[in-house]
Amino acid sequence: MSSNRRTFAIISHPDAGKTTLTEKLLLQGGAIHLAGEVKARGAARRARSDWMKIEQQRGISVTSSVMTFQKDGVVFNLLDTPGHEDFSEDTYRTLTAVDSAIMVIDAAKGIEPQTRKLFEVCRLRSVPIITFVNKVDREGRAVFETLDEVADALALDVCPMSWPIGMGGIFEGVLDFATQTIARPEGDSREFLGKRDPVTDGAIPADIAEEIELAQMGYPEFDLTAYRNGDLTPVYFGSALKNFGVAEMIDAIARYAPPPRPQPSESGTIELDHPEVTGFVFKVQANMDPMHRDRIAFMRMVSGTFKRGMKLTPSGLGKPIAVHSPILFFAQDREIADTAEAGDIIGIPNHGTLRVGDTLSEKNTVRFTGLPNFAPEILRRVQLKDPTKTKQLRKALDDLSEEGVIQVFYPEIGAQSIVGVVGQLQLDVLISRLEAEYKVEAVLEPSPFDTARWLKGSDAALRTFADFNLSNLAKDRDGDPVFMARSAWDVGYQQERNPELTFSATKER
Ligand code: G4P
Repeated sequence: MSSNRRTFAIISHPDAGKTTLTEKLLLQGGAIHLAGEVKARGAARRARSDWMKIEQQRGISVTSSVMTFQKDGVVFNLLDTPGHEDFSEDTYRTLTAVDSAIMVIDAAKGIEPQTRKLFEVCRLRSVPIITFVNKVDREGRAVFETLDEVADALALDVCPMSWPIGMGGIFEGVLDFATQTIARPEGDSREFLGKRDPVTDGAIPADIAEEIELAQMGYPEFDLTAYRNGDLTPVYFGSALKNFGVAEMIDAIARYAPPPRPQPSESGTIELDHPEVTGFVFKVQANMDPMHRDRIAFMRMVSGTFKRGMKLTPSGLGKPIAVHSPILFFAQDREIADTAEAGDIIGIPNHGTLRVGDTLSEKNTVRFTGLPNFAPEILRRVQLKDPTKTKQLRKALDDLSEEGVIQVFYPEIGAQSIVGVVGQLQLDVLISRLEAEYKVEAVLEPSPFDTARWLKGSDAALRTFADFNLSNLAKDRDGDPVFMARSAWDVGYQQERNPELTFSATKER
């Protein structure tokens, strides 16, 4: 079955230009009203300092979590991967719901830590990557240096698809290899306003012509299969701010990025033309009002055609729920506004019945696999101010971990729960929500552990391991065994000594 949907995310390190590129993509895709929201969100993010502001920001980001636009018959679903301080497990999980990603890197800075982390998550699921080297209107590194860094750091083949004609003060445009045209800066702002010159004699300075010739010999040609397998990344140069390379991004996603992928399930791969509506929840977001526990579950559609009012059965619940007021993310086309199909995202309001990782389907015959939890990077012990509130705390931690705000671990020895997150902001959110919603006052203390690994192995192997390492063992929310490690070294050491166990940095539900 062919599909005109392209569901993708943008990954980058803060400040590389993700917001700017998003805005420009939406502008070109005609979703201008949304572009303002992206900006508003940026402003809110910078101004945010307390819980109310976090909530406001979340309220806005419900609408900008999924941005849909349409161009030349292709429907683009751009999923926001929260970055910056609000970098969290949500960011990782969103990447499980996309079919491809654009990796934005700053021409002057190259691959930065957060880019690399997000890239690793993409690699886990072989999500293909298109690279956008941004800010060529400013001084940057040599083009070769950037290309080689991407190739080496990420162990990918790189294929330059365009080449900047100078950078910074001597920036004269971007040469697109496919069309053999040069996009030129114009006016005082030196923006790209649509002027493209054909490549004629002397249009490219001699030193750059030489570089290009070397590049064409030194790097592989674009190969669609290698890209779609996640082995090769096409690299485009541009300036989101000045509009260079933006049209090329849309074109590349439409042309090369994969349509919605079939998804693995317990009963085999579910193809797009599977005869019922199926999808999985990749994110749950609390609503604006912290006093009302209603939430929005974001479901990625895998098959079928969803219509308003349809009944779907969540795998975790077993009985159908009517989806009366779904949030569909509007493209300009009315038809799309009323229905959703494979690759699209639906927001489903609920009161906590839907969990991250749940499958929804019409007949409750499908259960998707492969939606992972990610090992936390920050672990803290939760200390109650009022020790009589243990029960409330446990309920709160269970709820919040279901929602994906935190992960919770209950150590085999000792009464204090340990919470794990991948981003600092999650801890702030935890403390504010414990107080506001559960009336539980708590403080977070350093934990002796640095990271956690899910353990798998035979019962006998797990028992033997427990005999020697009980003080490093905990159970997660589902009661599964977790090794709490003091360091990455500790993980390696135990792995070596216990080859019959696997120490996993992700857990599939
Ligand atoms: P992010 O979402 O990845 O964090 O990056 P964002 O788009 O917010 O961009 C970070 C900064 O880089 C912004 O400047 C933005 O204007 C600038 N920028 C983005 N793309 C380009 C580009 O192609 N060329 C140049 N020269 N600059 C670019 P700022 O001053 O920090 O933010 P603002 O106050 O302008 O919003």
